[in-house]
Amino acid sequence: MNKREIKITEDGSTTIELIGFNEHFHSIHGAIQESDHIFIRHGLKEKAKELTDIAIFEMGFGTGLNALLSLVFAEKQNKNINYFTIEAFPIEKELVEKINFTKKLKLSNELSRCFTEFHSLPWNSKTQITANFCFEKQYVFFENLNLPCNFYDLVYFDAFNPDLQPELWTESVFLKLYQSMKKGGILMTYSAKGKVKRALKFAGFQLKALPGPIGKREITQAIKM
Ligand SMILES: C[S@@+](CC[C@H](N)C(=O)[O-])C[C@H]1O[C@@H](n2cnc3c(N)ncnc32)[C@H](O)[C@@H]1O
Repeated sequence: MNKREIKITEDGSTTIELIGFNEHFHSIHGAIQESDHIFIRHGLKEKAKELTDIAIFEMGFGTGLNALLSLVFAEKQNKNINYFTIEAFPIEKELVEKINFTKKLKLSNELSRCFTEFHSLPWNSKTQITANFCFEKQYVFFENLNLPCNFYDLVYFDAFNPDLQPELWTESVFLKLYQSMKKGGILMTYSAKGKVKRALKFAGFQLKALPGPIGKREITQAIKM
């Protein structure tokens, strides 16, 4: 894994830059605003209209931002979330300590402690972080991961962009995710590339093009019908 550095995005929240690849973990127009728009507003909020218990799979734990925003949502809306995330290249402790999400979101000490726990908990074990939020992270490559069938209500597909990681945006990857999801399940991704949409359609998803967050015209919501 290349060297990584903390950067401040336009909404003041931190992200990580992959040095030498001109690639960031989030939009430089705002990490929190991007994750909130794509994964919470168009993913979690949609599922929460019909469900109280929501099983989420995240491709790429990274900074833990999506997990944190999901936890905040679960606490505010009193939803039960079963959150499973994977990561092949965990970020170093020195970088984790520089992440400012809890400060930017003005979170309580209790929720800030949960964010620290996301990072400090051991890999490959499940923890009931709050009464509403069960969390598990696995240190594994997606390619080596077995997922249960018909289990997830929501998938946050947050890999690096398709030009950098073409092997993660293929028909077979999306088929694996499709099979792991329940009927009516939603997969959210920031990508609206033609190649990505074709691969999602091939896997069986029905697609909706949605307006993107600041700095991005369109994002994709893929539904298992
Ligand atoms: C765009 S970043 C997003 C991270 C995270 N969702 C966040 O909000 O910080 C993509 C993440 O996927 C991880 N990743 C890349 N390839 C992977 C693979 N084959 N299997 C599992 N994780 C991978 C990267 O290390 C990185 O943390």
